[in-house]
Amino acid sequence: MHESESADGPPRHARHWLLDPDVAQLNHGAFGACPRAVLAAQEEFRLQMEREPVRFFFREREPLLDAARNALAGLLSAAPEDLVFVRNATEGVNAVLRSLRFAQGDELLVTDHAYNACRNVVEYVARASGARVVVARVPMPIAAEDEAVDAILAAASDRTRLAMLDHVTSPTALVLPIARIVHLLADRGIDTLVDGAHAPGMIPLDIERVGAAYYAGNCHKWLCCPKGAGFLHIRGDRQAAIHPAVISHGYNTIRAERGRLYEEFDWAGTVDPTPWLCLPAALRFLDGLFGGIGGLMRHNHLLASEARRVLCEALGAEPPCPETMLGAMAAVPLGREETAGANVFRCHPVQNRLLKQFGIEAPVYHWPGPPRLWVRVSAQAYNSVEQYRRLAGALCAIAAEHRGGKRP
Ligand SMILES: Cc1ncc(COP(=O)(O)O)c(C=O)c1O
Repeated sequence: MHESESADGPPRHARHWLLDPDVAQLNHGAFGACPRAVLAAQEEFRLQMEREPVRFFFREREPLLDAARNALAGLLSAAPEDLVFVRNATEGVNAVLRSLRFAQGDELLVTDHAYNACRNVVEYVARASGARVVVARVPMPIAAEDEAVDAILAAASDRTRLAMLDHVTSPTALVLPIARIVHLLADRGIDTLVDGAHAPGMIPLDIERVGAAYYAGNCHKWLCCPKGAGFLHIRGDRQAAIHPAVISHGYNTIRAERGRLYEEFDWAGTVDPTPWLCLPAALRFLDGLFGGIGGLMRHNHLLASEARRVLCEALGAEPPCPETMLGAMAAVPLGREETAGANVFRCHPVQNRLLKQFGIEAPVYHWPGPPRLWVRVSAQAYNSVEQYRRLAGALCAIAAEHRGGKRP
């Protein structure tokens, strides 16, 4: 039996979260889930803020932000001076892409696994500048990391100005060998913006080793911070050109001791900074679960791998990627479908049915558009193998009805 499993209920760590006990939450990857201890820390910060808002924003906020930044820098093996907070990965991607200047004939490289919101930012800046978006087709199913590396490099040209690449892909849950790709592209003079929305807290991450010009990530997914905690890492030699997505006071009020990057990014108008301030509390919490965050990542990886085994066996599917490309999520093909019934804010009928009839929250979606349908599962400390078995049973039941002529 898996370490996290208990025969008659949720694993012991589930009690640390507020999650609805009537729903098997198998989609941590979508929005994370904030543990009780971290919500309590946020409440403390909010009380401090509202007791004396002016003192908080003028005098207390910056030292607290710096403490949170230092904690994150320690986790990511990054220098704090290269790290700024943004509200989410989408905002970080916007800051980079909308700061850079592209010209007619330039090429911007993405893959067909890119997250739609971030891909849209690439499309937007390309349209505004006359640049061209080049899409590398990364195979899925994929037999080896090299297939991803080769597909991306083959799509690069001497006109490629920037590659925006996911560290962990959203629709296919692939962990790409990002450091290798970044360095191979750099050898050809191409900068990379890594969309690392899922990576921090899911897989070991050493940002200096990755070496990308830009790395945007989230703390509200796998680091379990409150919603609205993202970051952007900008390599020292690329900082001068980059401004936040929201221009505010920092554009012309620069205190030499803090530097332009902090001045511009640390104030994007009045926002609630408590999601970032909770980072030290979130790291303390995660460190306490499996003897350290490394232990938690290993646990979640093994659970995702077991979840995939259970689903593939029940559904008669082949694992679509090697084990080495799995983090704490796994995507499994469900079959072929002729029509697209969903977009990101409109759930597929099968996904609705899983929740309504079986009490299971798991994304079911088309990728890369019709005809293939996928399910993606996440593995977090509050999940158990039994929940994936229930999902497998529910999907088999729905598929049997479907074969019998009933629609989901
Ligand atoms: C690869 C990827 N990039 C970006 C995002 C966007 O994250 P956010 O909405 O927090 O900006 C997601 C969200 O799931 C994602 O999977």
